[in-house]
Amino acid sequence: MTEELTKSQVAMEMEDKYGAHNYHPLPVVLSKGKGVYVWDTEGKQYFDFLSAYSAVNQGHCHPKIVSALQQQAETLTLTSRAFYNDTLGEYEKYMCEYFGFEKVLPMNTGAEAVETAIKLSRKWAYEKKGIAENAAKIIVCENNFHGRTTTIISFSNDEDARKNFGPYTEGFIKIPYNDIDALNEALKEDNVAALLIEPIQGEAGVFVPDEGFLTEASEACKKANVLFVADEVQTGVARTGQLLACDHENVKPDMLILGKALSGGAYPVSAVLANNDIMEVIKPGQHGSTFGGNPLAAKVAVAALNVIKDEKLAENAQKLGVIFRDRMNKFITKNDLVTTVRGKGLLNAIIINDSPDSSTAWNICMQLKENGLLAKPTHGNIIRFAPPLVMNETQLHECCDIIEKTIEEYK
Ligand SMILES: Cc1ncc(COP(=O)(O)O)c(C=O)c1O
Repeated sequence: MTEELTKSQVAMEMEDKYGAHNYHPLPVVLSKGKGVYVWDTEGKQYFDFLSAYSAVNQGHCHPKIVSALQQQAETLTLTSRAFYNDTLGEYEKYMCEYFGFEKVLPMNTGAEAVETAIKLSRKWAYEKKGIAENAAKIIVCENNFHGRTTTIISFSNDEDARKNFGPYTEGFIKIPYNDIDALNEALKEDNVAALLIEPIQGEAGVFVPDEGFLTEASEACKKANVLFVADEVQTGVARTGQLLACDHENVKPDMLILGKALSGGAYPVSAVLANNDIMEVIKPGQHGSTFGGNPLAAKVAVAALNVIKDEKLAENAQKLGVIFRDRMNKFITKNDLVTTVRGKGLLNAIIINDSPDSSTAWNICMQLKENGLLAKPTHGNIIRFAPPLVMNETQLHECCDIIEKTIEEYK
């Protein structure tokens, strides 16, 4: 007798058979989301503690974002940039005022926005700084994560991301993260165009640099006439308890890269912001994207950013982040399985007391799933906790109860 497969099993088998195996998902099949919750195909409810890698900061299916999407979808979706449309200019003005820059260049995914920033940095270096053609270098940090394109993985030191994808793009200098001496040394090299940096390294396992590092780094770049380019694709849009992670130190990047929560997870929207003296190096035909800045993206992003302000999500992330780390820090004094909790706002991680090659973090995530909370290991023994920012205090305590119980009971 053959057993009937559940809906979840059917969906997983289909992905396994017909989809490329470029991800290793937790075995849960989601079919609905609302606010801080998601539901699987069998109707089980979970707290989402990943928020699609910080894209769903505003919570799942936020009614104001969905409504903007629906209205614009019925009106005009895509014109390409061959013509003007009546939403892009408004969106660009809104973005510039919201983040305090003179210009924005709209793209779709985070990786595309990073590529855009790399191209802009190089062109600025040749045309404004006077670096000889093809000689420009960009400083990046070890354990960075900026996306998956060929150029971006060229300066990754994650072998899985890099191996057998060469030949690699040249022109990058790698320094340790959070190391001001190494940065100062690298800035002495000839032909440096920019420093490309995550203000908190998200994928690497939520590495928060020492207080003052971003300020010192930004000042050192300014002195060396090198652009400070902040990749806030994961940390931006209220995730860390300020609108931008750079805001914790009042650092103003020369170029700001945003994605993910710019749309609240409703649509791929990314952007690069800079002032005129940088952005003016790009002329018609030199960069673009068919979908970048389309009317749907424009309306969705404005709605998503309005929600951030109206619902004071940065303030909420700041407040709940303190409560979360307090509870976890108290908990780990009584439990040997977790060594560290770290993060800012609602971008946090716990470090499991086991080797990075062990399956302990994965197994804990499997158990968390059984107990109604979805999270995923980042690197080996690190589990990132990044719930939607619309969470309330009672829900957060409920989640902490689940995490503590799961770890206490873990064998
Ligand atoms: C800091 C950072 N930059 C860039 C990206 C790439 O974004 P996307 O997956 O939308 O290409 C990510 C994705 O996790 C990220 O965390």
